Amino acid sequence: MKVLVFPDAATASAATAARIVARLHDNPRAVLGLATGGTMEPVYAALRRDLAGGPVAFTAFNLDEYVGLPADHPQSYASYMRAHFYDALGVPAAQTHLPRGDAPDPQAEADRYEAAIKAAGGIDLQLLGLGANGHIGFNEPISSLGSRTRVKTLARKTVNDNARFFRPGEEVPHQAITMGIATILEAREILLLTTGKTKSRAVAQMIEGPVSAICPASALQMHPRVTVLLDTASAADL
Ligand code: GLP
Repeated sequence: MKVLVFPDAATASAATAARIVARLHDNPRAVLGLATGGTMEPVYAALRRDLAGGPVAFTAFNLDEYVGLPADHPQSYASYMRAHFYDALGVPAAQTHLPRGDAPDPQAEADRYEAAIKAAGGIDLQLLGLGANGHIGFNEPISSLGSRTRVKTLARKTVNDNARFFRPGEEVPHQAITMGIATILEAREILLLTTGKTKSRAVAQMIEGPVSAICPASALQMHPRVTVLLDTASAADL
């Protein structure tokens, strides 16, 4: 793992975006794996600016989607991606992929999604955030390190952490379809961005702890090309 610590969140996110732009410069048709969450908002803001006017030839697969939310639900990750990234650049919908949250058979949808990633040739560059409990995608603690795309029940902490994106009183989904840990580890290169003090313990476990299903992100220690980009707050427990 290469670990880079930046003075603040803005610099760490700008450096993450710059790496994605550089990879797309080398290979405009790259297959990207993309993440959602508050941490990624400044990354997509930078990408909207830096990629504007250029060719949009990449294909993207998102990590996860809430079970039960249709793509046009305001809190779906499909809506997030359109609002923060795709609409501004006019990325053709055929080049963007997320699991369908409202699929009648979520596990069949997960299998279809895993096969679609393979059919696209696999992921060249995977962007990851980090849950405060050490999750990546929605692979919660004690997820199998050999897991593939599947339905996961969310930890209570994750439901509580993500409630801030939903309206007061609105029910936060309790399940998601997520790429598995083994699916994520097949990406040719991985960038993980984490900012803020609330993530510092998970960051320390991911980097300095044992490889363990208790901290799913620790599985990244087994990957040969991972760059972790941190601000000083999230690096505080290293
Ligand atoms: C969600 C997503 C993760 C993301 C995490 C952190 O649970 N499934 O992919 O990394 O939240 O989100 P935030 O950046 O909002 O802290």
